[in-house]
Amino acid sequence: MNKAARGSLLGIEHLEAKEILSLLTQARRMNPLKPRPLLRNKRVLLLFYEPSTRTRASFEIAAKSMGAMTTLVLSSGSSIEKGESLLDTAYTLRAVGADVMVIRHPNAGAPLLMATHLDVPVINAGDGMHEHPTQALLDAYTILRHKKTLTCLQMAIVGDIYHSRVARSAIHLLSKFGARITLCGPPEFLPDMATSLAPGLHITRTVEEAVRGADAVMVLRVQKERLAGTKLRLQDYISRYQLTTARLKLAKRDAILMHPGPIIRGLELTWEVADCPQSVIVEEVHNGVPVRMAILAKALGKAN
Ligand code: NCD
Repeated sequence: MNKAARGSLLGIEHLEAKEILSLLTQARRMNPLKPRPLLRNKRVLLLFYEPSTRTRASFEIAAKSMGAMTTLVLSSGSSIEKGESLLDTAYTLRAVGADVMVIRHPNAGAPLLMATHLDVPVINAGDGMHEHPTQALLDAYTILRHKKTLTCLQMAIVGDIYHSRVARSAIHLLSKFGARITLCGPPEFLPDMATSLAPGLHITRTVEEAVRGADAVMVLRVQKERLAGTKLRLQDYISRYQLTTARLKLAKRDAILMHPGPIIRGLELTWEVADCPQSVIVEEVHNGVPVRMAILAKALGKAN
């Protein structure tokens, strides 16, 4: 197979810890309120085949604030609806002058396919059930604003882990730094052989066991249609796995509560938990901007 275009960010799995730390350092140097025009005259193409609010908005704001021109192409209303293939769409967008492509796609591997056929960097903004590397980086950035180090962190991840690219990328990232990660959810929502995904992974039967002593608790979105495919009724899920104030109290006193969004209050977590002082859900979104500024700058060789 051809090599992926230089500067691409396709996943966390194959990154080295030092590359991750370098991106996080770069993100810390970014000031979204006083951005440097590092991307002046650059064209950033945002190609979204799936819905998105925070990822799309923060990429757009990150790019524009550094002086880039952005163009958003959604699957609805574009030639994708007429049946144009991913690669033909990519060649078209390259031909109009894209310098970097940000893509979200329902199929795992779509960004890799693009990156091996294009001569411009491709950034994965979420591909199917595979990876969501920019989310993992903003999550690590957020954790580091509250905890001294990622090493030896105790992390609980609760919910639909199997379908979550956020969980997969977070697991890859945190396990590179020796974090101890505990997964908890209905068996249908846990990947087969989950514990072989990465070293330091554990599975617990109850949410109480997963959360006890954790430094950070990440709750994942649960789709009602997917829940319908399990043996659990909505009410059973809520009583067994919902993150409540009482359950969060089992974590360390200074534990943070994370969620990639969109959150469904009353299902995966209670209203009170979503807004409690330990919740960094809004902060994660906020941190998405400097992190994506760093990612774009690095992709275009403008990071320093
Ligand atoms: C996630 C996604 O799209 O993977 N959202 C996000 O980008 N912050 C999580 C989800 O949709 O469940």
